[in-house]
Amino acid sequence: MNPVRSLILAAADHDAVRRAVATAPVSRRVVRRFVAGETVAEAIDATAHLVEHGLRVTLDHLGEDTADRRAAERTVQTYLALLDQLHDTGLAVDAEVSVKLSAVGQALSERLALTNASRICAAAEQGGMTVTVDMEDHTTTDSTLRVLAELRRTWPSTGAVLQAYLRRTLDDCHELAGSRVRLCKGAYAEPASVAFTDPHEVDLNYVRCANALLAGGGYPMFATHDPRLVEIVAERARWHGKAPEDFEYQMLYGVRPAEQARLAAEGHVVRVYVPFGEQWYGYLTRRLAERPANAAFFLRSLVSR
Ligand code: FDA
Repeated sequence: MNPVRSLILAAADHDAVRRAVATAPVSRRVVRRFVAGETVAEAIDATAHLVEHGLRVTLDHLGEDTADRRAAERTVQTYLALLDQLHDTGLAVDAEVSVKLSAVGQALSERLALTNASRICAAAEQGGMTVTVDMEDHTTTDSTLRVLAELRRTWPSTGAVLQAYLRRTLDDCHELAGSRVRLCKGAYAEPASVAFTDPHEVDLNYVRCANALLAGGGYPMFATHDPRLVEIVAERARWHGKAPEDFEYQMLYGVRPAEQARLAAEGHVVRVYVPFGEQWYGYLTRRLAERPANAAFFLRSLVSR
């Protein structure tokens, strides 16, 4: 294992470190910047605030890699409560949810993940919302795309996520270009056998994939904070004759908020990915550990806008 990754994971696993991170004023500020809160009510408040400022939202209940049926069930119940609240507060028109299949039982069985994701999709549809299925590490890509295909038989607007760092992704983009697809760079530590490891190669593939999605008749969702890619996407979208409502930008909660506001003010659709839940500690430390570049990514956010 990469030594930086081992170090972060080992340190993060200590109770003393966990307590210090959870209570230190600076880290609490960091957490609150990147995580909307622990409860559905706090997630709703953050959503209302973003929507007031002209942004759309996709909400993620934190918690992955569940190997416990009851934990998967609790995750489903939280999504159902969240969808109810979004509907009741009139936020449904600007909101949707993002779901990690590993949080709803994928490690136990693909069928359980499909059943649980279907319950979330059904509730979302009832409230006038959609679901996007997050993409996790490459060992789950085929399974996740199979579940997605099943979900789309009943809920065709269910969103897919494709990761530009995977060598297979351009083919997947051609396959899915007629549908709702979020394109991101990819956040997991992947081997060179399946992924581009040179950041320049990842960026080049992001542009190739963006072109493929824009050429299709679907609804591409460009998830990146990279200023060059944001600009290239805008230029490519114009070239493909796309109106601002034909695609959207997506960014993470707390990351480049001024850029989110600028793009929205220019008339672009901008959706903010809002994580919430008690398992924020794992979210932050795993993000840092999975890919050491992410440490810089989070730290940079503290000093830049
Ligand atoms: P990257 O981190 O490479 O940064 C490129 C440039 O962007 C930097 O050089 C800098 O100029 C600018 N920049 C980046 N961060 C900044 C900051 N904090 N402040 C100022 N400037 C900054 N991944 C995954 O594997 N599966 C998934 O389902 C998702 N879902 C998802 C949804 C959404 C809405 C987003 C935004 C991201 C994801 N991701 C994801 C994560 C994604 O794969 C990726 O790890 C991060 O977005 C970081 O990549 P960037 O494209 O932002 O650029």
